[in-house]
Amino acid sequence: MDHSPQSDTFDAQGFRRALGAFVTGVTVVTTIQADGTPRGFTANSFTSVSLDPPLVLVCIAKSASSYGVFSQTSHFAVSVLAEDQKDVSGVFASKSTDKFAQVAWQARATGAPIMHGAAAHFDCATHEVVDAGDHIILLGRVLDFAHTGVSPLGYCRGAYVNFSLSQDAIAATAASEHAHVGAILEHTDGIVLLETKDGLRLPRGARLESADDPKSLRGVLARLGLVAHLDFIFAVFESNPRRDQDHDHAHDEDRDGVRIFYRGRVVAQRGMSAPELHIVPLSQVPWDALSDPAERSMLERYVKERHEDAFGVYVGDSEAGTVQTLALA
Ligand SMILES: Cc1cc2nc3c(=O)[nH]c(=O)nc-3n(C[C@H](O)[C@H](O)[C@H](O)COP(=O)(O)O)c2cc1C
Repeated sequence: MDHSPQSDTFDAQGFRRALGAFVTGVTVVTTIQADGTPRGFTANSFTSVSLDPPLVLVCIAKSASSYGVFSQTSHFAVSVLAEDQKDVSGVFASKSTDKFAQVAWQARATGAPIMHGAAAHFDCATHEVVDAGDHIILLGRVLDFAHTGVSPLGYCRGAYVNFSLSQDAIAATAASEHAHVGAILEHTDGIVLLETKDGLRLPRGARLESADDPKSLRGVLARLGLVAHLDFIFAVFESNPRRDQDHDHAHDEDRDGVRIFYRGRVVAQRGMSAPELHIVPLSQVPWDALSDPAERSMLERYVKERHEDAFGVYVGDSEAGTVQTLALA
């Protein structure tokens, strides 16, 4: 079958989703314009190219408003964002006219801005600009660089990934008898919520495995007929239901303890839909019906990041050069 982009059968959306499976970091690429003002945008197309000479590259959409500036610049810098810098990524992925007023930065070797708190940075002289379809490839010769021990921000399938959360989860589970494992699951039509006698809750269990164990998250999902991929850990926190909830009949699994929430996707549904299953569009979450305050605030954060397009799959959409919303496979 002809899968070339020119053919009618080329699945452009599927192509974007396939590219989204490649885990990357998140960078901010910056330069100083001819008038002396800084310019920058968020990019996950950063790649190391050569050790000798030291070369890196980043791809810029021709539709980006800063394309003209970067296609002409003699110098640029790449800041590799730390995992607490999702907001910085959001600022530089936006069309805001005062991006640099919203973040802390400094100039180093070339004068191009470096983000304060970045996990690493590379200060470059432009080595070559290569035309590449709806993007250009900006190759930089590294003149100066630095790195810190802070954990970098990850990006995969249109969502940010906090790698250190997995370590936190392992440590916390080992230290806690009462782990509680839940999931924010996206379904084609929205988020999976469950009707309980206390209101709507996220699917959760006393532990993660196994599907044969009705008290585990996998067991709960199996009973609901949901086949889910749990992609990454979204949150790890200590809970105190007596403090978090003002009713005194907290569930057994809501005892004090560590809570671990995955984010993932429903990839198939088996059998009849269970009566307690509610698939709620992200824009219509009934916040007042969510009985658990900790789950509510975590879900609020998820929806906010999703709305900010933080969870879009950036793969260089030729029309907008911006972000595609996450669609389910
Ligand atoms: C995680 C993430 C990665 C991105 N990667 C790139 C990229 O590699 N190249 C690109 O041209 N745009 C990328 N974008 C989109 C730009 O950041 C976005 O289009 C921005 O508005 C461009 O800024 P400008 O309009 O000021 O040029 C990415 C966005 C996000 C959220």
